[in-house]
Amino acid sequence: MDGPQAPATAELRTALLAWYDRARRDLPWRAVPGAAADPWHVLVSELMLQQTTVATVRGRFAPFLARFPTLQALAEAPLDEVLHAWQGLGYYRRARALHACARTVAGQHGGRLPLDPDELLELPGIGPYTAAAVAAIAGGRAVVPVDANAERVLARLAALETPLPAARPELRALAASLAAPTRAGDFAQALMELGALVCLPKRPACPGCPWVSWCMATRTGQPAAFPRKQMRPPRHVRHTVAFVLERGDGAVLFRRRPDTGLLPGMIELPSTPWLPEPSQAMHAVATAAPEGVAWAAIAGEVRYRFTHIDLVCRLLRGRTANGAAGEIWAPPARFAELALPTMTKRLLQHAGLLGP
Ligand code: ADE
Repeated sequence: MDGPQAPATAELRTALLAWYDRARRDLPWRAVPGAAADPWHVLVSELMLQQTTVATVRGRFAPFLARFPTLQALAEAPLDEVLHAWQGLGYYRRARALHACARTVAGQHGGRLPLDPDELLELPGIGPYTAAAVAAIAGGRAVVPVDANAERVLARLAALETPLPAARPELRALAASLAAPTRAGDFAQALMELGALVCLPKRPACPGCPWVSWCMATRTGQPAAFPRKQMRPPRHVRHTVAFVLERGDGAVLFRRRPDTGLLPGMIELPSTPWLPEPSQAMHAVATAAPEGVAWAAIAGEVRYRFTHIDLVCRLLRGRTANGAAGEIWAPPARFAELALPTMTKRLLQHAGLLGP
């Protein structure tokens, strides 16, 4: 904080770090206290944690590192293998970002991840949050990454009236005012940890908070009312019909999604476009369905929730003698080798072609 509140900065830092020393969780990507963190571990974990919960990442981190123990190992792997290893974490754009980043670092930095925040920002797939997190946690640089947990903590500390997301520049400035070169990595993680364990979205546990005596939101009596939020755009419901086409030998037809947009480059079942009305999706079947197939409806529907879209999917099943050249065909025994998004797995489960 600037101006008259600046003297509190040192006290805020000390109080938070003392709390972190007592309360920090042992997480597989965290170095033991006092030890240096491995930049590769930090990069992987920070990308995983951006849109996935600690509970899920906890189970996925070690297997992923066993497969790609170094940045070099991942840079040398084909993208499909990386996407495959990312299964279960969702938001596959991050796996593509990691791959692009690793290739650039392998090619241009001799395989050593830079630890300067500005150099990190130059890398493909690395945004301001990841750059600051790696620079602080792996490089000890005096920067403070601001994730959603840190945003909430800082918005409450200052009782900031600006709603999110407009408040982000102010929150980053507030975070920067708290940065210091000593224990930068611990401070970064402590701020997130406070948001994850104490400064909870709905029921902040203020009596146990190391910052309670400075927290402006607590003084309002309604700390959970911060951060203020802009009204969200409504979610859209979309309807689609997907096609389960089985070849004589039991292989199923897939296609690859475009390299941009939702689930870029992932493998999925062919389907109609996603349309606002169920009847529109049914009408689109005529043009979207693989030709010359007698289709039968599979009973029921599969609903899948993306960030901004609720997708309702119906399935048609058909058989064909042969596929055409250039198509993607895989028998159920080889589904596990494909980079299938969760939604596609759910459809295959609904069709009885994939176990739960
Ligand atoms: N969320 C994002 N980064 C994290 C970290 N290093 N530890 C715990 N939670 C996190």
